[in-house]
Amino acid sequence: MMKFQGNHILSVSQFDREAIAKILQVSAQMAPYASRKKRCHVLDGAILSNLFFEPSTRTRVSFGTAFNLLGGFVRETVGQENSSLSKGESLFDTAQVISGYSDVIAMRHPQMHSVEQFAQGSSVPVINGGDGANEHPTQALLDLFTIQSEMMHFNKGLDDLNIVLMGDLKHGRTVHSLSKLLSLYDNVKVTMVAPKALQMPDSVISTLSDAGHEVILTETMAGNLSADVIYQTRIQQERFASKDEAELYRGHFSLNKSVYQKYCQENTVIMHPLPRDSRPEANELDTDLNDLDNLAIFRQAQNGVLVRMALFALTLGVEDQLTDYEKPVNWFTNKNA
Ligand code: CP
Repeated sequence: MMKFQGNHILSVSQFDREAIAKILQVSAQMAPYASRKKRCHVLDGAILSNLFFEPSTRTRVSFGTAFNLLGGFVRETVGQENSSLSKGESLFDTAQVISGYSDVIAMRHPQMHSVEQFAQGSSVPVINGGDGANEHPTQALLDLFTIQSEMMHFNKGLDDLNIVLMGDLKHGRTVHSLSKLLSLYDNVKVTMVAPKALQMPDSVISTLSDAGHEVILTETMAGNLSADVIYQTRIQQERFASKDEAELYRGHFSLNKSVYQKYCQENTVIMHPLPRDSRPEANELDTDLNDLDNLAIFRQAQNGVLVRMALFALTLGVEDQLTDYEKPVNWFTNKNA
């Protein structure tokens, strides 16, 4: 079994099926705390440094929320312009200093492999919150947790999954990490719907095909969306050479109720790492899908709290002590109604 305690979480390549099963199991144990049925203060006194050098809503806030829900304190830096990285300080030096202040660090940065570089200077575990177009391992784990939870309703699991990945598969780090995790399961079929110029990197396709999975590459939605899950992605404008280049692809694969009813299975689950681009010229996931039970995007985002709580518990070695540190919830809450 992979050792979590004291280790960095930098890439999904670190995990085998056993390690993922452990993360998903501990994530499920976090549900009563996230839904405010009980409190847990197992990390009372611990400090998370949450360093976000690239925009984020879900990942940054859910890392902080997850740590708070386990009783810990959170210190944040947002934007390179507000950090001494803008004065020329190296990632290594920053890591040496910040790890002296913290028990664990979560970090997002626009450059590929920057979080790994940072981790080399850190004396405490570092969790990758997204490094450029490379990877987003905690997103992939929460995606897998979501797929497992959603498929349970149809008596299915992670094996024999039929999934469509759609949109900007070249720059979308979430689909890179998710594909690598899916390659660990059995008999997976992955249909990749993207403009040719934005198709999945060859290395990621090989990870799936070398593991014996069926991979279909296509540029059209028609006839290709019949699956257990559709995972839509955003055109990652910030990773293109220019805004004009990104504009060429915006709106190519808008999914709305009419397209869903025409091309998807009756129960196809819709996922998206979010944010969805809801501007009219993009409209990648139309709001007319909001009333579908199978639209899992907000359940998916909520699952991020559970999975990040689990990763903190595992890297700090307290996953077996949760119930020893429970307290009642004293305030009004309708979360567990
Ligand atoms: N899914 C995700 O990474 O969202 P944020 O960019 O808002 O963190």
